[in-house]
Amino acid sequence: MIEEDLDSIRSDFPIFEFNPKLIYMDSAATSQRPKNVIDKVTEVYSHYNSNVHRGIYSMAEKVTEEYENSRKEIAKFLGANADELIFTKNTTESLNLVAYMLLPKLKNGVITITELEHHSNILPWREVASLANAEIRTVAVDREGKIDYADFEKKVSGSSVLSFTHISNVAGTTLDAKKMVSAAKAEGAITVVDGAQAAPHLKLNLHDLGADFYALSGHKMLGPTGIGILYGNKRLLEDLEPPFRGGEMVTEVHAEGQEWNDVPLKFEPGTPNFAGAIGFGEATKYLEKIGMNDIESYEKKLGKALMEELTKIDGLEYIGPSEGRAALLSFKLKGYHPHDIAAFLDTRSIAIRSGFHCAQPLHERFGFFDGSARASLYFYNNLDEIESLAYSLKELVRL
Ligand SMILES: Cc1ncc(COP(=O)(O)O)c(C=O)c1O
Repeated sequence: MIEEDLDSIRSDFPIFEFNPKLIYMDSAATSQRPKNVIDKVTEVYSHYNSNVHRGIYSMAEKVTEEYENSRKEIAKFLGANADELIFTKNTTESLNLVAYMLLPKLKNGVITITELEHHSNILPWREVASLANAEIRTVAVDREGKIDYADFEKKVSGSSVLSFTHISNVAGTTLDAKKMVSAAKAEGAITVVDGAQAAPHLKLNLHDLGADFYALSGHKMLGPTGIGILYGNKRLLEDLEPPFRGGEMVTEVHAEGQEWNDVPLKFEPGTPNFAGAIGFGEATKYLEKIGMNDIESYEKKLGKALMEELTKIDGLEYIGPSEGRAALLSFKLKGYHPHDIAAFLDTRSIAIRSGFHCAQPLHERFGFFDGSARASLYFYNNLDEIESLAYSLKELVRL
């Protein structure tokens, strides 16, 4: 049980040792990292640093084995096969990569997204839509930031691609990804899910979910920065052309012509972030040890308490559902700019984010034209910290 083990869990994270007063509530931007991940990255660089998939000397073989074992570890964690996982830099790169992979299939087609999207799931599609002369449709959300399913059914009809966020980083809404994927598949659409905010918090089984592509970032789920994943359906990955090209994604290059490497290496040109990838495998081991089901149920409690405590504050307005939300709350306080709220909380050692959180259209949809202040939690947070946040916000309102 996380609640009982919280002191020991927090002691795994050096950041809390070096910043004993810190109340970290910005995990949707990036999570903290446990010692096993930090140590693993140091181990790679100090014990067997050499390039992957290139050398035949023993150290190069060791690092390659660690890199591929990590891919297997992450695949097990996600309910996928290792050869379906492409290492990228982050969710943003994963979404750009899939958008460019699909470009040849999108001529005069229809790309459907939702009003909940992060800029990373809007801008790549805008670009390929303009190159392919495709139409972009945006599925509406209701007053609570939940998908309007009547509008979804209308918009998904005749779509070539459906791309949507699994959990909104602003509204905290969890979408019924399985239902949306199967409706889109019935229309013959290719499905892409932005899992940046879901993979750190939900027990996933990508095969069961059935989406063709799933994007996520290591740094939001205890892993190092600069490492992400694009999961892709093997048949599609084999069929699609690699948009980016260079070393190691080929088996042969001649004066004329070349042979692509097998999937997934075909989509990993150049030297990858191998230390990051190996560290990410450790992060998934740590998450498995805590248990994703436990994380999910503990965070439900945190999300509920966050909502209950903060909505007691006079003049506070928030975006998103009143129930069943992720453990994050984006809010504004009458008379205070979100940056002023974050700066005040910083004087109380509480770290939250302020601004548009890379989802400006969604803020505008809800009339949050200055953005919002966002507290986003992870399993290392506790109820006392939520009370401290609420206490400090009440203090601000009283000033
Ligand atoms: C829903 C969502 N999608 C995409 C991203 C982009 O992630 P990254 O910055 O790691 O590429 C984020 C980051 O906050 C996010 O919350």
